Amino acid sequence: MERRDAVQVQQGSVEADPAVSVVILKDGPYLIRGAPPLHTQTIERNEQGQSWQFRQGRQFAVKDGTRLCRCGHSQNKPYCDGSHARADVDLTETATFEPMLDSAQEIDGPRYALTDNERYCAFARFCDNGEGIWNEVRQPGEQHARLTMYMAHHCPSGRLLVWDRATGELAEEPSPVSLSLIEDPGAGASGPLVLRGGIRVESASGESYEIRNRQTLCRCGASSNKPFCDGSHATIRFQDGL
Ligand code: FES
Repeated sequence: MERRDAVQVQQGSVEADPAVSVVILKDGPYLIRGAPPLHTQTIERNEQGQSWQFRQGRQFAVKDGTRLCRCGHSQNKPYCDGSHARADVDLTETATFEPMLDSAQEIDGPRYALTDNERYCAFARFCDNGEGIWNEVRQPGEQHARLTMYMAHHCPSGRLLVWDRATGELAEEPSPVSLSLIEDPGAGASGPLVLRGGIRVESASGESYEIRNRQTLCRCGASSNKPFCDGSHATIRFQDGL
């Protein structure tokens, strides 16, 4: 069987054009295949001080073969400048290839079910609005249902997914293909590289991670779930200087 036959696609996600992918180079950067658009996205807060929306900012050029920093030490971010070879950072991949939902928790509400796999948390905090998504999903009524959906759809890592209990289907549309560099002034840090639209991520081993609509890849070098972000950028106050 060819390796591509083994690529898993999460229920409700659609794989991007296979010409677009992100390849992890062993102990090195992200190699971008295809030419997906790349912008900064700043997390803006609402009057309650909670993460509420993304503001799209500066665009960066990407072409087939572009290399993006994943050690956090490049002097030319978001691009790789070879600093990983001298930096004291362990870029070994530690994430599992198992489907995210295999180890997710499920919380059922009257209309939606929420699945949550905390291992993939990118600490974007959209889930803290209202009474928090874990309580909002349990509440009856249109307003709670709408807020639950809003928060889940803004979760950049895809840790949080909302399912329509009547149909069993994922309650979200596939996103357009894009790459985003997160800036999070509320946390005083720069954040992960967000992949939207079912972009395949290929390990340095040649194996592919499960394809998902929303994914966040570490670019600070500190995650304990590489290549995925685990929120450590907020702890170390990663600054990309963009
Ligand atoms: S960017 Fe989030 S842990 Fe590195």
